Amino acid sequence: MLNKKDLLSIEDLSKKEIISIIKNADNFYKNKKISIKERVLNNRTQINLFFENSTRTQVSFEIAGTLLGASVVNFPLSNSSQSKGETLIDLAATLNSMNPDILVIRHPNSGSVQLISEKVTCPVVNAGDGNHEHPTQALLDLLTIQKRVGRTDNLKIAICGDISHSRVARSNIFCHKKLGNKITLIGPKTLIPRNIDKLGVDISYNMADGLRDVDVVMVLRLQKERMDGGYFSSEREYFHLYGLDDRKMKYAKPKAIIMHPGPMNRGIEIDGNLADNLDKSVITMQVEAGLAVRMSVLELLLKNKNENV
Ligand code: NCD
Repeated sequence: MLNKKDLLSIEDLSKKEIISIIKNADNFYKNKKISIKERVLNNRTQINLFFENSTRTQVSFEIAGTLLGASVVNFPLSNSSQSKGETLIDLAATLNSMNPDILVIRHPNSGSVQLISEKVTCPVVNAGDGNHEHPTQALLDLLTIQKRVGRTDNLKIAICGDISHSRVARSNIFCHKKLGNKITLIGPKTLIPRNIDKLGVDISYNMADGLRDVDVVMVLRLQKERMDGGYFSSEREYFHLYGLDDRKMKYAKPKAIIMHPGPMNRGIEIDGNLADNLDKSVITMQVEAGLAVRMSVLELLLKNKNENV
């Protein structure tokens, strides 16, 4: 059960709601085939609206919707009237008049997905808004942790790298605080927002200290497209100090897993061989879990909508 019109953030969800999305996703993960009768999006229209480049998230939402029976329309933004100066609110009104059953939106500005959601009648899923939140990423990370570590509580998690520009970090922080897990953020001072300790996380500027005894290491991409100046002296030095490699992994628990939301910069935030080491790295499993989580979210929002009409 998800008693909500939209999925805009993890901050909005209760622990119970998080667990129920994951439980439903796990069914999709285990049973890849669903019968036509069970497809809650049969004869429904899903519009994907991606104002930012995306490979895995957009494709994954597209496949998820299609498997659930929807006609999926990818809104072509480069030649839409957005490039002619239409406001977001006008676009929302236009979309609403087309009567979609569900909208999936990614936008470079924090808060813009919520703004659109307030102007449309159908459910809206936030597929990433600026550096605010990326709820389905944290949920797919959680499903991956459950499957590989075997539990979702009593965990020590390190989130490493460019925290300042990362919606993935914020969604994961909210998620794991709600589940009662211990989080340490690791990175250079320039890439960790001031006051973020108010969210109840530990901070470390040093990988050796921060990685000690963790169960999960989440590595983040250096998000250069959101940087407006020099945050570190060189990529070489960044890799030396903060890039995850075998040497630094020794500080974590022997069975610790490595996660990365992708796309990854090999040799900058993570050593390429380590990323490919399937004993430790669960990066491809995250992509697989992403499909199940997105099916789960689309299904739960649609079921809730159907119950409220
Ligand atoms: C992330 C995103 O777009 O926020 N990627 C993703 O959704 N797979 C992280 C990133 O771009 O680094």
